[in-house]
Amino acid sequence: MAEPAVRTEEVWKTFRQASEEIHAVQDISLEIGQGEFTALAGPSGSGKTTLLNLIGGLTRPTRGMVQVAGEDIGNMKARRLARFRLHNVGFVFQAYNLLPVLTALENAEFPMLLQGVGTAERQSRVRSLFEQTGLSGLEDRLPGRLSGGQQQRIAVIRAVAGQPALVLADEPTANLDSTTSNSLLCLMDELNRDLGVTFLFATHDTNVMNRSRRLIQMVDGAIECDRAQP
Ligand SMILES: Nc1ncnc2c1ncn2[C@@H]1O[C@H](COP(=O)(O)OP(=O)(O)O)[C@@H](O)[C@H]1O
Ligand SMILES: [Mg+2]
Repeated sequence: MAEPAVRTEEVWKTFRQASEEIHAVQDISLEIGQGEFTALAGPSGSGKTTLLNLIGGLTRPTRGMVQVAGEDIGNMKARRLARFRLHNVGFVFQAYNLLPVLTALENAEFPMLLQGVGTAERQSRVRSLFEQTGLSGLEDRLPGRLSGGQQQRIAVIRAVAGQPALVLADEPTANLDSTTSNSLLCLMDELNRDLGVTFLFATHDTNVMNRSRRLIQMVDGAIECDRAQP
């Protein structure tokens, strides 16, 4: 059987503030299979971002184990972890986070440049993704001259183009109106079905929750409910 994209075992993240301890993630054991399209939902402060950051190797667990693509990342040395992230995890953020001085195409190919993918291969992957996502013609635009929806589509292309084991998207539709957010979801759904890209969202957008095929509800740092959706 294929390795799951993600496996956590009894993972905790505790923040200390003054004399107070906040258990942002409490004792979470979870598996995300390859090819899933899963949403983490829950109220603000329930630990969604912290859990995504643990899975993305952006923060270290206080206790427990985090595996991505079969590798234990919780104790990986910083340099190795950075390299592992580059090749295995794509990120999509609420505020798009495109580099303002690079064109749409340069932004989209940036992770592949760091990965060492050759020019021809980078260009061909990005151009076909631009085509597939209805962005052809916008390759040379700077982010400041693109709408929010277009910027987020480019951020999604950037996240998937390097062929990571997993794409993590933290509130990807929170800055978008409902029509734009819907079409972004269609795009991610298509990339999931056609290319098999594994997506894990943190969200409190009901639209994202409804469109996901598995919904994990978090409350106070723990999983309250985890179910498949039709
Ligand atoms: N770096 C940090 N330092 C201290 N507390 C934090 C930090 N990051 C998150 N928290 C706390 O952890 C809890 C979960 O936060 P977060 O993961 O951002 O939740 P969500 O994404 O669901 O809104 C909150 O109580 C938050 O204040
Ligand atoms: Mg959050």
